[in-house]
Amino acid sequence: MQAKLVWKENLQFTAEADGHTGPALARALLAWYGRKKRDLPWRRKPDAYRTLVSELMLQQTGVATVVPYFERFLARFPTVQALAAAREEEVLVLWSGLGYYSRARHLHRAARLVVHELGGTLPSNEEELRQLPGVGAYTAAAVAAIVFSRRTLPVDGNVARVLARILGERKPIDRPAVRAGLRLQGQPLVPGRRPGDFAQAMMELGALCCLPREPLCAECPVARSCRARAEGATDSIPVRALRPAKRRIHLACVAVERRGRLLLVCRPAGTLLAGTWVLPLLEMRAGEAAARAARRALAGLGLRVEGSPTPVGAVRHIFTHRDATASVFRAGARGRVNHPDARWVRDEELAFLPLSTFGRKMIACSRVN
Ligand code: ADE
Repeated sequence: MQAKLVWKENLQFTAEADGHTGPALARALLAWYGRKKRDLPWRRKPDAYRTLVSELMLQQTGVATVVPYFERFLARFPTVQALAAAREEEVLVLWSGLGYYSRARHLHRAARLVVHELGGTLPSNEEELRQLPGVGAYTAAAVAAIVFSRRTLPVDGNVARVLARILGERKPIDRPAVRAGLRLQGQPLVPGRRPGDFAQAMMELGALCCLPREPLCAECPVARSCRARAEGATDSIPVRALRPAKRRIHLACVAVERRGRLLLVCRPAGTLLAGTWVLPLLEMRAGEAAARAARRALAGLGLRVEGSPTPVGAVRHIFTHRDATASVFRAGARGRVNHPDARWVRDEELAFLPLSTFGRKMIACSRVN
Protein backbone atom coordinates (compact mmCIF):
# COMPACT_ATOMS: atom_id res chain seq x y z
CA MET A 1 0.00 0.00 0.00
CA GLN A 2 1.64 3.19 -1.14
CA ALA A 3 -0.87 5.98 -0.55
CA LYS A 4 0.87 8.45 1.68
CA LEU A 5 0.19 11.97 2.76
CA VAL A 6 -3.40 12.85 2.07
CA TRP A 7 -4.18 16.43 1.40
CA LYS A 8 -7.47 17.35 3.02
CA GLU A 9 -9.65 20.32 2.40
CA ASN A 10 -9.00 21.58 5.91
CA LEU A 11 -5.29 21.99 5.17
CA GLN A 12 -4.18 19.03 7.24
CA PHE A 13 -2.13 16.07 6.22
CA THR A 14 -3.28 12.77 7.56
CA ALA A 15 -1.46 9.46 7.51
CA GLU A 16 -2.60 6.58 5.42
CA ALA A 17 -1.25 3.07 5.47
CA ASP A 18 2.54 3.09 5.68
CA GLY A 19 2.95 6.71 4.59
CA HIS A 20 4.26 9.39 6.93
CA THR A 21 2.18 11.78 8.90
CA GLY A 22 3.35 15.38 8.47
CA PRO A 23 5.39 15.25 11.71
CA ALA A 24 6.85 11.85 10.83
CA LEU A 25 7.91 13.16 7.43
CA ALA A 26 9.68 16.09 9.12
CA ARG A 27 11.38 13.73 11.58
CA ALA A 28 12.58 11.41 8.83
CA LEU A 29 13.82 14.32 6.73
CA LEU A 30 15.59 16.04 9.63
CA ALA A 31 17.32 12.80 10.66
CA TRP A 32 18.55 12.35 7.09
CA TYR A 33 19.70 15.97 6.99
CA GLY A 34 21.67 15.41 10.20
CA ARG A 35 23.55 12.58 8.50
CA LYS A 36 23.95 13.97 5.00
CA LYS A 37 24.08 17.75 5.11
CA ARG A 38 27.03 19.38 3.45
CA ASP A 39 29.37 21.53 5.47
CA LEU A 40 28.66 24.84 3.73
CA PRO A 41 30.15 28.11 4.96
CA TRP A 42 26.83 29.89 5.50
CA ARG A 43 25.64 27.00 7.67
CA ARG A 44 28.45 27.50 10.18
CA LYS A 45 27.35 30.78 11.75
CA PRO A 46 23.94 31.50 10.29
CA ASP A 47 23.27 35.07 11.35
CA ALA A 48 20.81 37.24 9.44
CA TYR A 49 23.38 39.07 7.34
CA ARG A 50 25.34 35.97 6.29
CA THR A 51 22.12 34.16 5.48
CA LEU A 52 20.81 37.05 3.41
CA VAL A 53 24.07 37.19 1.43
CA SER A 54 24.13 33.44 0.85
CA GLU A 55 20.48 33.18 -0.13
CA LEU A 56 20.81 36.04 -2.62
CA MET A 57 23.91 34.45 -4.12
CA LEU A 58 22.20 31.06 -4.29
CA GLN A 59 19.28 32.41 -6.31
CA GLN A 60 20.04 31.34 -9.87
CA THR A 61 23.53 30.06 -9.00
CA GLY A 62 24.68 26.61 -7.82
CA VAL A 63 26.28 25.88 -4.46
CA ALA A 64 29.71 24.94 -5.85
CA THR A 65 30.01 28.27 -7.68
CA VAL A 66 28.72 30.28 -4.75
CA VAL A 67 31.04 28.93 -2.01
CA PRO A 68 34.24 30.81 -3.01
CA TYR A 69 32.28 33.98 -3.81
CA PHE A 70 30.58 33.85 -0.43
CA GLU A 71 33.87 33.38 1.37
CA ARG A 72 35.57 36.28 -0.43
CA PHE A 73 32.54 38.51 0.06
CA LEU A 74 32.31 37.81 3.80
CA ALA A 75 36.06 38.24 4.23
CA ARG A 76 35.81 41.71 2.73
CA PHE A 77 32.40 42.66 4.16
CA PRO A 78 32.05 40.70 7.40
CA THR A 79 29.14 42.77 8.68
CA VAL A 80 26.17 44.62 7.28
CA GLN A 81 27.89 47.83 8.42
CA ALA A 82 30.99 47.02 6.37
CA LEU A 83 28.85 46.38 3.31
CA ALA A 84 26.83 49.56 3.80
CA ALA A 85 30.05 51.60 3.96
CA ALA A 86 31.43 50.19 0.69
CA ARG A 87 31.22 51.79 -2.72
CA GLU A 88 28.88 50.01 -5.13
CA GLU A 89 31.71 49.37 -7.53
CA GLU A 90 33.65 47.42 -4.93
CA VAL A 91 30.61 45.30 -4.18
CA LEU A 92 30.23 44.54 -7.87
CA VAL A 93 33.91 43.60 -8.15
CA LEU A 94 33.36 40.86 -5.57
CA TRP A 95 30.30 39.74 -7.52
CA SER A 96 32.16 39.71 -10.85
CA GLY A 97 31.50 36.47 -12.70
CA LEU A 98 28.52 35.45 -10.53
CA GLY A 99 25.99 37.02 -12.93
CA TYR A 100 22.67 38.71 -12.23
CA TYR A 101 24.41 41.84 -11.00
CA SER A 102 21.19 43.48 -9.89
CA ARG A 103 21.33 41.06 -6.93
CA ALA A 104 24.55 42.71 -5.76
CA ARG A 105 23.23 46.23 -6.22
CA HIS A 106 20.06 45.34 -4.32
CA LEU A 107 22.03 43.71 -1.53
CA HIS A 108 24.15 46.81 -1.19
CA ARG A 109 21.09 49.05 -1.05
CA ALA A 110 19.46 46.71 1.48
CA ALA A 111 22.57 46.91 3.69
CA ARG A 112 22.47 50.71 3.57
CA LEU A 113 18.79 50.72 4.43
CA VAL A 114 19.33 48.35 7.37
CA VAL A 115 22.22 50.43 8.72
CA HIS A 116 20.81 53.90 8.11
CA GLU A 117 17.13 53.32 8.81
CA LEU A 118 16.77 50.14 10.87
CA GLY A 119 19.53 50.62 13.41
CA GLY A 120 21.76 47.95 11.87
CA THR A 121 19.45 45.00 12.55
CA LEU A 122 17.68 42.99 9.89
CA PRO A 123 13.93 42.51 10.42
CA SER A 124 12.93 39.11 11.77
CA ASN A 125 9.64 38.56 9.98
CA GLU A 126 8.89 37.84 6.36
CA GLU A 127 6.72 40.84 5.70
CA GLU A 128 9.36 43.34 6.80
CA LEU A 129 12.17 41.40 5.17
CA ARG A 130 10.27 41.69 1.90
CA GLN A 131 10.47 45.47 2.12
CA LEU A 132 14.24 45.23 1.56
CA PRO A 133 15.51 45.75 -2.00
CA GLY A 134 15.98 42.47 -3.84
CA VAL A 135 14.25 40.37 -1.19
CA GLY A 136 11.31 38.42 -2.60
CA ALA A 137 9.07 35.75 -1.11
CA TYR A 138 11.72 33.04 -1.28
CA THR A 139 14.57 34.99 0.32
CA ALA A 140 12.34 36.46 3.03
CA ALA A 141 11.05 33.00 3.97
CA ALA A 142 14.57 31.52 3.91
CA VAL A 143 15.97 34.18 6.27
CA ALA A 144 12.90 34.06 8.51
CA ALA A 145 13.08 30.27 8.84
CA ILE A 146 16.85 29.77 9.01
CA VAL A 147 17.75 32.70 11.26
CA PHE A 148 14.60 33.51 13.18
CA SER A 149 13.04 30.02 13.39
CA ARG A 150 9.82 31.19 11.79
CA ARG A 151 7.56 28.34 10.74
CA THR A 152 7.63 29.05 7.04
CA LEU A 153 8.75 27.27 3.90
CA PRO A 154 11.00 28.92 1.31
CA VAL A 155 10.26 27.33 -2.07
CA ASP A 156 13.09 27.55 -4.57
CA GLY A 157 13.52 25.33 -7.62
CA ASN A 158 14.80 22.36 -5.59
CA VAL A 159 12.08 22.58 -2.98
CA ALA A 160 9.40 23.00 -5.66
CA ARG A 161 10.58 19.78 -7.30
CA VAL A 162 10.57 17.88 -3.99
CA LEU A 163 7.09 19.14 -3.10
CA ALA A 164 5.72 18.45 -6.59
CA ARG A 165 6.88 14.84 -6.32
CA ILE A 166 5.66 14.33 -2.75
CA LEU A 167 2.27 15.80 -3.59
CA GLY A 168 1.98 14.40 -7.11
CA GLU A 169 1.54 17.88 -8.59
CA ARG A 170 1.25 17.65 -12.36
CA LYS A 171 0.86 21.31 -13.22
CA PRO A 172 3.97 23.23 -14.32
CA ILE A 173 5.96 24.20 -11.23
CA ASP A 174 7.47 27.27 -12.90
CA ARG A 175 4.04 28.95 -13.00
CA PRO A 176 3.78 31.39 -10.10
CA ALA A 177 0.29 30.21 -9.14
CA VAL A 178 1.42 26.58 -9.02
CA ARG A 179 4.49 27.56 -6.95
CA ALA A 180 2.23 29.42 -4.56
CA GLY A 181 -0.02 26.38 -4.31
CA LEU A 182 2.94 24.13 -3.56
CA ARG A 183 4.06 26.48 -0.85
CA LEU A 184 0.60 26.52 0.69
CA GLN A 185 0.37 22.74 0.58
CA GLY A 186 3.90 22.30 1.87
CA GLN A 187 3.45 24.69 4.78
CA PRO A 188 1.71 22.20 7.11
CA LEU A 189 4.72 19.89 6.77
CA VAL A 190 7.01 22.46 8.43
CA PRO A 191 7.63 21.43 12.04
CA GLY A 192 7.28 23.92 14.87
CA ARG A 193 10.80 23.08 16.00
CA ARG A 194 13.79 23.56 13.67
CA PRO A 195 11.88 25.08 10.73
CA GLY A 196 15.17 26.45 9.38
CA ASP A 197 16.77 23.02 9.34
CA PHE A 198 13.63 21.67 7.73
CA ALA A 199 13.87 24.29 4.97
CA GLN A 200 17.52 23.51 4.34
CA ALA A 201 16.80 19.77 4.51
CA MET A 202 14.23 20.17 1.73
CA MET A 203 16.80 22.09 -0.33
CA GLU A 204 19.43 19.45 0.41
CA LEU A 205 17.07 16.64 -0.53
CA GLY A 206 16.50 18.34 -3.88
CA ALA A 207 20.21 18.88 -4.42
CA LEU A 208 21.48 15.44 -3.37
CA CYS A 209 18.67 12.93 -3.70
CA CYS A 210 15.46 14.13 -5.39
CA LEU A 211 17.43 14.96 -8.53
CA PRO A 212 15.73 16.38 -11.63
CA ARG A 213 16.59 13.29 -13.63
CA GLU A 214 17.00 9.81 -12.17
CA PRO A 215 16.22 10.66 -8.55
CA LEU A 216 17.85 8.38 -5.97
CA CYS A 217 14.59 7.13 -4.47
CA ALA A 218 16.28 4.16 -2.77
CA GLU A 219 18.15 6.63 -0.56
CA CYS A 220 15.25 9.00 0.01
CA PRO A 221 14.10 9.36 3.62
CA VAL A 222 10.58 10.32 2.55
CA ALA A 223 10.10 7.89 -0.33
CA ARG A 224 7.22 6.30 1.59
CA SER A 225 5.36 9.60 1.38
CA CYS A 226 6.03 10.33 -2.26
CA ARG A 227 3.03 10.25 -4.50
CA ALA A 228 5.11 10.55 -7.67
CA ARG A 229 7.02 7.44 -6.66
CA ALA A 230 3.85 5.56 -5.72
CA GLU A 231 2.45 6.37 -9.14
CA GLY A 232 5.68 5.54 -11.00
CA ALA A 233 5.76 9.17 -12.14
CA THR A 234 9.12 10.48 -10.89
CA ASP A 235 10.24 10.86 -14.52
CA SER A 236 7.25 12.93 -15.52
CA ILE A 237 6.94 15.04 -12.33
CA PRO A 238 7.76 17.87 -12.06
CA VAL A 239 6.23 19.29 -15.20
CA ARG A 240 7.71 22.49 -16.59
CA ALA A 241 5.97 25.02 -18.80
CA LEU A 242 7.41 25.37 -22.27
CA ARG A 243 9.78 28.29 -22.04
CA PRO A 244 9.45 30.95 -24.71
CA ALA A 245 12.51 31.01 -26.94
CA LYS A 246 15.19 33.39 -25.69
CA ARG A 247 15.33 36.64 -27.60
CA ARG A 248 18.43 36.70 -29.80
CA ILE A 249 20.41 39.92 -29.69
CA HIS A 250 23.35 40.93 -31.82
CA LEU A 251 25.90 43.35 -30.47
CA ALA A 252 29.04 44.90 -31.78
CA CYS A 253 31.90 45.85 -29.47
CA VAL A 254 35.23 47.43 -30.17
CA ALA A 255 38.60 47.43 -28.42
CA VAL A 256 40.54 50.69 -28.62
CA GLU A 257 43.92 50.97 -26.91
CA ARG A 258 46.03 54.01 -26.26
CA ARG A 259 49.40 53.98 -24.55
CA GLY A 260 48.77 50.52 -23.10
CA ARG A 261 45.30 51.37 -21.84
CA LEU A 262 42.06 49.84 -22.98
CA LEU A 263 38.91 51.91 -23.29
CA LEU A 264 36.03 50.55 -21.18
CA VAL A 265 32.56 51.85 -20.40
CA CYS A 266 30.24 51.20 -17.49
CA ARG A 267 26.87 49.74 -18.48
CA PRO A 268 24.12 52.18 -17.58
CA ALA A 269 21.41 51.43 -15.00
CA GLY A 270 18.46 49.54 -16.39
CA THR A 271 20.41 47.78 -19.16
CA LEU A 272 21.83 44.29 -19.47
CA LEU A 273 24.86 43.93 -17.15
CA ALA A 274 24.20 47.31 -15.54
CA GLY A 275 27.09 48.53 -13.40
CA THR A 276 29.71 46.30 -15.02
CA TRP A 277 32.50 47.47 -17.35
CA VAL A 278 32.66 46.39 -20.98
CA LEU A 279 34.26 47.31 -24.27
CA PRO A 280 32.26 50.08 -25.95
CA LEU A 281 29.30 48.21 -27.39
CA LEU A 282 25.93 48.67 -29.01
CA GLU A 283 23.10 46.46 -30.09
CA MET A 284 23.01 46.30 -33.89
CA ARG A 285 19.99 47.81 -35.60
CA ALA A 286 17.97 45.60 -37.92
CA GLY A 287 20.00 45.12 -41.11
CA GLU A 288 22.95 47.11 -39.78
CA ALA A 289 26.48 45.85 -40.45
CA ALA A 290 28.41 45.01 -37.27
CA ALA A 291 31.29 47.33 -38.23
CA ARG A 292 28.88 50.21 -38.50
CA ALA A 293 27.47 49.52 -35.03
CA ALA A 294 31.04 49.41 -33.71
CA ARG A 295 31.66 52.87 -35.22
CA ARG A 296 28.47 54.16 -33.65
CA ALA A 297 29.54 52.81 -30.26
CA LEU A 298 32.72 54.90 -30.45
CA ALA A 299 30.99 57.93 -31.92
CA GLY A 300 28.72 57.96 -28.86
CA LEU A 301 31.85 58.42 -26.75
CA GLY A 302 33.23 61.22 -28.91
CA LEU A 303 35.70 59.10 -30.95
CA ARG A 304 36.13 58.67 -34.70
CA VAL A 305 37.46 55.38 -36.05
CA GLU A 306 40.62 55.60 -38.15
CA GLY A 307 40.16 53.50 -41.29
CA SER A 308 37.90 50.53 -40.72
CA PRO A 309 37.39 48.55 -37.52
CA THR A 310 39.18 45.19 -37.78
CA PRO A 311 36.87 42.22 -37.16
CA VAL A 312 38.49 39.73 -34.79
CA GLY A 313 35.72 37.25 -33.99
CA ALA A 314 32.49 36.80 -32.12
CA VAL A 315 31.50 35.65 -28.66
CA ARG A 316 28.21 34.30 -27.45
CA HIS A 317 26.60 34.37 -24.03
CA ILE A 318 23.31 32.85 -22.95
CA PHE A 319 21.37 34.83 -20.37
CA THR A 320 18.09 33.76 -18.80
CA HIS A 321 16.01 35.67 -21.33
CA ARG A 322 18.53 36.50 -24.02
CA ASP A 323 20.88 34.69 -26.35
CA ALA A 324 23.51 37.32 -27.10
CA THR A 325 26.20 37.31 -29.77
CA ALA A 326 28.79 40.07 -29.89
CA SER A 327 30.92 40.75 -32.97
CA VAL A 328 34.28 41.90 -31.70
CA PHE A 329 36.42 44.54 -33.43
CA ARG A 330 39.68 46.33 -32.84
CA ALA A 331 40.11 49.87 -34.01
CA GLY A 332 42.32 52.89 -33.83
CA ALA A 333 40.32 56.00 -32.99
CA ARG A 334 40.81 59.76 -32.96
CA GLY A 335 39.29 62.31 -30.64
CA ARG A 336 38.87 62.90 -26.93
CA VAL A 337 36.63 60.62 -24.95
CA ASN A 338 33.73 62.67 -23.80
CA HIS A 339 31.69 60.47 -21.52
CA PRO A 340 31.42 60.30 -17.72
CA ASP A 341 31.24 56.50 -17.65
CA ALA A 342 34.23 55.73 -19.87
CA ARG A 343 37.77 55.05 -18.64
CA TRP A 344 41.15 54.15 -20.05
CA VAL A 345 42.18 51.09 -18.07
CA ARG A 346 45.57 49.41 -17.63
CA ASP A 347 45.61 45.60 -17.49
CA GLU A 348 46.60 45.64 -13.82
CA GLU A 349 43.47 47.65 -13.05
CA LEU A 350 41.08 45.12 -14.58
CA ALA A 351 41.04 43.07 -11.36
CA PHE A 352 39.62 46.09 -9.52
CA LEU A 353 36.74 46.73 -11.88
CA PRO A 354 33.45 44.85 -11.94
CA LEU A 355 33.55 42.75 -15.10
CA SER A 356 30.92 40.26 -16.19
CA THR A 357 31.77 36.91 -17.71
CA PHE A 358 30.43 38.15 -21.04
CA GLY A 359 32.51 41.33 -20.72
CA ARG A 360 35.64 39.28 -20.07
CA LYS A 361 34.93 37.06 -23.06
CA MET A 362 34.73 40.12 -25.31
CA ILE A 363 38.03 41.52 -24.02
CA ALA A 364 39.73 38.12 -24.34
CA CYS A 365 38.46 37.74 -27.92
CA SER A 366 39.73 41.19 -28.86
CA ARG A 367 43.22 40.11 -27.81
CA VAL A 368 43.55 36.53 -28.99
CA ASN A 369 42.49 36.77 -32.58
N1 ADE B 1 20.05 26.85 -2.06
C1 ADE B 1 19.42 27.93 -1.60
N2 ADE B 1 19.63 28.09 -0.28
C2 ADE B 1 20.42 27.06 0.10
C3 ADE B 1 21.00 26.70 1.33
N3 ADE B 1 20.80 27.41 2.43
N4 ADE B 1 21.76 25.58 1.35
C4 ADE B 1 21.96 24.89 0.21
N5 ADE B 1 21.45 25.19 -0.96
C5 ADE B 1 20.69 26.28 -1.03
